Amino acid sequence: MAEVPGQGRFEGRVTVVTGGASGIGEATARRLAAEGATVVVADIDTDLGPALADSVPRIEFAHCDVSDGGSVAELMDGIVARHGRLDGVHANAGIETPPLLLADTSDEWFDRTIAVNTKGVFLTCKHAIRHMLELGGGAICCTSSIHDVASYPKIGIYAISKAAVGAIVRAISVDYATQGIRANAILPGATLTPLVEREVEDAPDPELQRELMDGLQAMKRCADPAEIAASVAFLLSDDSSFMTGASVPVDGGSLSLLPGPDVLGPEMQHG
Ligand SMILES: NC(=O)c1ccc[n+]([C@@H]2O[C@H](COP(=O)([O-])OP(=O)(O)OC[C@H]3O[C@@H](n4cnc5c(N)ncnc54)[C@H](O)[C@@H]3O)[C@@H](O)[C@H]2O)c1
Repeated sequence: MAEVPGQGRFEGRVTVVTGGASGIGEATARRLAAEGATVVVADIDTDLGPALADSVPRIEFAHCDVSDGGSVAELMDGIVARHGRLDGVHANAGIETPPLLLADTSDEWFDRTIAVNTKGVFLTCKHAIRHMLELGGGAICCTSSIHDVASYPKIGIYAISKAAVGAIVRAISVDYATQGIRANAILPGATLTPLVEREVEDAPDPELQRELMDGLQAMKRCADPAEIAASVAFLLSDDSSFMTGASVPVDGGSLSLLPGPDVLGPEMQHG
């Protein structure tokens, strides 16, 4: 991972990262802790979460299933009871979906995806805001995806679950902007996390799959999770004090890139 500058923007602040045991969430937890925050990693993974907390100063682990309102309420209540503040929230926990055409997607997969990727973000924001209103404000960053804006075939339910995240941050921005609460979303492009590494390993030709994934970005590479974490830290810090309700691509140019000769072959004519 990229080296973390010790800027101290979060000195004395208390933050929570859902899905913080792995991937983008883990990178954010490390980044926030390196900048001085106390970070509560909230996750269902009771192996990786506690191991991260044991190895990094100022990171704590709390078991939490973001799809369960009681579990999320208990998480936020516990943080405020222990630390007396809640300054920043990264609503990041999410799951991938199997490749399915829309009409082949089972009701069960629909419910499961929405439960974690959409309702989980809603519940995380809702229970954080309850406390932020009493504590005088705070900043929220939700992990959406480039699939909020544009998609590939067979990823419809994931795209639906992420598109709602943009609406959640817009709703928070208009409901609470005057009460010191800001909410923004990041839209990561392909990022080399365990979620994506599983997709590469499961492909019939993993090497080709990795090459294809790199080619999705104008930069012709996937992101390091630390690069996504840097944007999350910015959106949770006072450096973004006039930003709320925004959905920000952090995607190496993938949303700018139309398939051209490099993707379709040199025989493609363009003018
Ligand atoms: N990796 C990418 O290319 C990419 C791109 C765009 C968006 N995203 C999004 O970024 C977020 C993080 O993904 P990642 O790639 O780091 O994946 P990851 O699998 O490495 O990490 C996801 C974490 O979320 C946790 N989690 C899953 N369900 C949970 C639940 N119900 N309650 C609490 N924790 C739960 C997992 O245990 C895991 O620690 C997800 O929302 C994902 O959709 C990832």
